[in-house]
Amino acid sequence: MYSDEKIRASLGKVEAAREQNIRLNPPRMTAEEKDALLKAYHPDYREEKFAALDFGPNAGDKVPTELKDLLQGKSRILGETLPLENPDYDADVLVIGGGGAGASAAIEASNAGAKVVLVTKLRLGDANTMMAEGGIQAADKPNDSPAQHFLDAYGGGHFAAQKDLLYKLVTEAPEAIRWLSELGVEFDKAPDGTMITTHGGGTSRKRMHAAKDYSGAEIMRTLRDEVLNRDITVVDFTAALELLKDESGSCAGAVLVNMETKERLIARAKTVILATGGAGRLHYQGFPTSNHYGATADGLVLGYRAGARLLYPDTLQYHPTGAAFPAQIYGALVTEKVRSLGAMLINADGEAFMNPLETRDVSAASIIRECTRPGKGVELPNGKRAVWLDTPMIEEKLGKGAIEARIPAMMRMFAKHGIDIRREPILVYPTLHYQNGGLHISPDGETDLPNLFAAGEVVGGIHGRNRLMGNSLLDIIVFGRSAGRNAAERARAVTVGKLTLGHLEAFEAAREGASAKTGVLFSPQLLPNYARK
Ligand code: FUM
Repeated sequence: MYSDEKIRASLGKVEAAREQNIRLNPPRMTAEEKDALLKAYHPDYREEKFAALDFGPNAGDKVPTELKDLLQGKSRILGETLPLENPDYDADVLVIGGGGAGASAAIEASNAGAKVVLVTKLRLGDANTMMAEGGIQAADKPNDSPAQHFLDAYGGGHFAAQKDLLYKLVTEAPEAIRWLSELGVEFDKAPDGTMITTHGGGTSRKRMHAAKDYSGAEIMRTLRDEVLNRDITVVDFTAALELLKDESGSCAGAVLVNMETKERLIARAKTVILATGGAGRLHYQGFPTSNHYGATADGLVLGYRAGARLLYPDTLQYHPTGAAFPAQIYGALVTEKVRSLGAMLINADGEAFMNPLETRDVSAASIIRECTRPGKGVELPNGKRAVWLDTPMIEEKLGKGAIEARIPAMMRMFAKHGIDIRREPILVYPTLHYQNGGLHISPDGETDLPNLFAAGEVVGGIHGRNRLMGNSLLDIIVFGRSAGRNAAERARAVTVGKLTLGHLEAFEAAREGASAKTGVLFSPQLLPNYARK
């Protein structure tokens, strides 16, 4: 399939070196080496791509320039007169977002007896969860423990994770797997019924539970069925434009928009859970993304404008192995499981240039470095560069049939483009995958704004400044469920006062008063704007 001359020349070197490379175990980097590498090559360290916020709860903190424009953007409903006293929906718990975190929250809030309304700007399940591939971590094997899980994640996140959040994540992980299994998620199992688990980058034990390489789709299908089988009101194609408060200053609902008709709708709620996901579709620094179409940082904007603080909004995750060739799948996720099953990263000269299971930020920076070194990056027909991920090594290590059995979705994705990953390596380059930062929450899932809870990728601090593979599918379940339970419990004690959008006026005044006038955009963005680009 590789017909380009330069690619073929490099492929020859990779094939010639395979027998030798397969026996190598390149050493892990020291902490000093990692620091130097990250500073030189990781996109988070490109100072010119970040700017400080001028006002709001995080004034002075740096964020990606694209995000600054949205956080400081104009509200889409400024100047509109809306019938706040006549809500279209009245809920105990309003869940905004229809991915894994929103669905888990809705299920648990409903279990707790709350009247739940879930709104999603696309359809229930159209979310990053559905696209997650490699698996979900949980320390539930005899040779492992939540303490070990904590240490791996804390180190991998550069010792910046909020310890109480991370503690909750790892200690509730085994129960999350049990819950999902009981709901009907079919995890991979050995013939004796024990879960098959693998390593991910930065893990000291094999604790990645998977459903082949479509783990997220398997989890989302199960959660979606569960939501639809309950007395939960699901409103598709309906986005949140602003959060509502009541006279006490607590969150009390949201102004919604029907994405098709643009009709405004009012949802009054005793508590609100933001589960709007990430920001990959903002394409920070021009990177491609592995993310879902709806990943446009909406929850950060809604929360920030209403007064909720962000944590680590300057740290993004670039998944090391985005597909780089062919162009039709540029940026699509090539699961880390490919490396955990034995494929190594190889440069244009056929050299194994790093240990394949370094953490993601380190792996991404290594690949970017290799692509800047003369002759070490594979030149692609579109002028970009990439490195090889030597997938044929998998079957050499694990035996024939391993690829189809363990990573069938990868096999199919490349087969559609004439590449048989059992016999030919693939070309990869980092792709924007995850926002490590987000809304600050307490261990109960509540943001700095009373009665506003958050769960999933919109939250910051669980993983510190870098997340390990499989801890995101885990956090949407652990923190989604807990937010649902806690929001339902809180709702029992809440009486909503008169609804107000007064905070928008205050925000607009701050925006007008700020010396640096960005914010020419209307936000939240809601959908990617490819036409403008
Ligand atoms: O590589 C992957 O399968 C991605 C997993 C994750 O982001 O947790």
